[in-house]
Amino acid sequence: MSKHIETTCVQGGYQPGNGEPRQIPIVQSTTFKYNTSEDMGKLFDLEASGYFYSRLQNPTCDYVAAKICELEGGAAAMLTSSGQAANFYAVFNIATCGDHVVASSSIYGGTFNLFSVTMKKMGIDFTFVSPDCTEEELNAAFKPNTKAVFGETIANPALTVLDIEKFATAAHAHGVPLIIDNTFATPVLCRPFEFGCDIVTHSTTKYMDGHGSAVGGVIVDSGNFDWTKYAEKFPGLCTPDDSYHGITYTERFGKGAYITKATAQLMRDFGSSPSPQSAFLLNLGLESLHVRMERHCENALAVAKFLKSHPMVSWVRYSGLEGDKYYELAQKYLPLGSCGVVSFGVKGGRKAAEAFMKGLKLGAIATHVADARTCCLHPASSTHRQMTDEELNAAGVGADLVRLSVGLESKEDLIADLQQALEQVK
Ligand SMILES: Cc1ncc(COP(=O)(O)O)c(C=O)c1O
Repeated sequence: MSKHIETTCVQGGYQPGNGEPRQIPIVQSTTFKYNTSEDMGKLFDLEASGYFYSRLQNPTCDYVAAKICELEGGAAAMLTSSGQAANFYAVFNIATCGDHVVASSSIYGGTFNLFSVTMKKMGIDFTFVSPDCTEEELNAAFKPNTKAVFGETIANPALTVLDIEKFATAAHAHGVPLIIDNTFATPVLCRPFEFGCDIVTHSTTKYMDGHGSAVGGVIVDSGNFDWTKYAEKFPGLCTPDDSYHGITYTERFGKGAYITKATAQLMRDFGSSPSPQSAFLLNLGLESLHVRMERHCENALAVAKFLKSHPMVSWVRYSGLEGDKYYELAQKYLPLGSCGVVSFGVKGGRKAAEAFMKGLKLGAIATHVADARTCCLHPASSTHRQMTDEELNAAGVGADLVRLSVGLESKEDLIADLQQALEQVK
């Protein structure tokens, strides 16, 4: 039976048998018992499926991974302890010391730092390209040792919309997969696999959890990228793994090769495993994801329209708003809405933005986004406060910029709150 995404949000993943719990059981156990060493040995050799240690796999986490896999239309998925871990694993699973990756420059600051500082120290080189670059510019960024392309559907905090097909076409022309961080869009608003993307990641901490209760991440593989066609580029997947008894992942696991390797090698060695409790909370969030995303989008569009018409607001960035630079791309990739995050400038710069934030009663000042409760951030006086106005402009985060994560409250109440806070700036 083919299901709509709403049904998958509620009932995907865990399928209870006769007399079994209706809700996902929290398997709060580090270990699993076996009758013979031989039984357990088969698991270690990846000859049989089953659980032996929760650093690698846990049933609760796997139920939730299966739901997200279904939501994205993928072949295999794994949860991680954070979005950072998901993005690190997604790239490190196929790129190693001496390799190169092409990435959009418009990505979350934490991911930019992970790539440009930490993974660079590990010997992986990144070339950053504007998401708005031409096909020629994009193709020129590739090198013989390029192993992947990376971007965000809706970038945090720039709110640029990625032309997924353009990036997928370039990636495939160079024999490498496209990895997309789909955190802000969620599979409810965009399913990147439908546009040629190969691997999707999420910080589930954001809309998927949706209540600010558990940090987490996920990697989903579409199973569509043919690693064996470019076997010389991906020896980790296409040649025997000595640390796992000479298994060749592509031969043994087919469409599950990429996720099995990430589990068997990266979870084993780095252990960024989610807790079953957190996976349970994530699943509660997923059960209402479709309902919440619709309301986040409706509220954000109403707020964006209000801000656009306000004399104290100098500019608004929201790709769902007609006239926005990314409106056309959003119509193609995000026809149901552009998520709940809106950014805008308060006339009067830094001081005015600070005064506006101070005046808010419903919108809480928080570094978080994508939560049921409206929150906002003035980067110039918080996360980016060490930078001068000139440096802020160069980074694309002007001193007047306020990032508003529109929640699920009444849009009339939210607009009234913004109105009274803007009044105080005058
Ligand atoms: C788009 C995006 N990707 C990844 C991350 C990192 O996720 P986490 O904070 O769950 O590690 C974030 C965090 O804000 C994000 O916004």
